[in-house]
Amino acid sequence: MKQQQQQRNDNGKNTIGRSSKDNYDVVFLDGRHLYLRPPTKDDLPYLTRWINDQRVTRFLKTSVPMSEAAEAAWLEGLDGGKDRNIILVIVDKATGKPIGTMGLHRIDWKDRRATTGTMIGDRRYWEKGYGSEAKMLLLNYAFNTLNLHKICSGAIAFNARSIGYSKKCGYKEEGRLKQHVFKNGRYWDKVLLAVFKKDWLPIWKEFRRTGSVPHLRKKARQK
Ligand SMILES: CC(C)(COP(=O)(O)OP(=O)(O)OC[C@H]1O[C@@H](n2cnc3c(N)ncnc32)[C@H](O)[C@@H]1OP(=O)(O)O)[C@@H](O)C(=O)NCCC(=O)NCCS
Repeated sequence: MKQQQQQRNDNGKNTIGRSSKDNYDVVFLDGRHLYLRPPTKDDLPYLTRWINDQRVTRFLKTSVPMSEAAEAAWLEGLDGGKDRNIILVIVDKATGKPIGTMGLHRIDWKDRRATTGTMIGDRRYWEKGYGSEAKMLLLNYAFNTLNLHKICSGAIAFNARSIGYSKKCGYKEEGRLKQHVFKNGRYWDKVLLAVFKKDWLPIWKEFRRTGSVPHLRKKARQK
């Protein structure tokens, strides 16, 4: 990521191959290394590739093959339910390429609660801080624009990367649903996590200063 940052600075451009002058990208939430924007039809080949890649979906609920048409119908369905679901595409600023999706789902406007869901479909981007950067931008939107109160997340117990990046952003484990998910030949617990604004805010302040989320100390990982 540092290298990409360097490249941007050296070229004096916002994204590789594009000057800031002719950059008309749609940007909804802007970060240092990535931005989030609403999906378009052009994202469908990416979405379809990722959602059929078992190395990605082994961590997700989905387990059936998805055609591009099915993926398009899913996107359209989400659009119809905008007040319940908000889905955004994560774009790497250095290359201008989509790398995954992140969303707020099952938004409950009375209880002011939602559940986040994320898929970085391009595996080359795993564990480099992109997930936590995107999550911080989404949480800022959830807490400070939508005025949501509690943001939940669920991860299959073996998904240490997902649990790790959520905890980096202030989530805490609230409980486990025993043997809740059948994946990779056996049942697994589902870990329930949630974050409140007061726990996220100090991390956000640090994130605004440095542009990235501090690594978790060993003790915090185990909480
Ligand atoms: C889960 C996902 C969104 C995380 O994004 P990411 O960019 O890979 O995560 P980050 O690099 O921001 O953070 C990962 C953290 O987990 C930590 N982690 C990884 N493996 C770990 C392990 N075995 N034990 C403890 N922590 C671990 C990392 O060290 C890192 O924390 P650190 O920066 O303090 O070292 C992304 O990997 C992904 O989309 N995976 C596939 C689909 C998926 O699992 N989606 C979530 C479903 S709930």
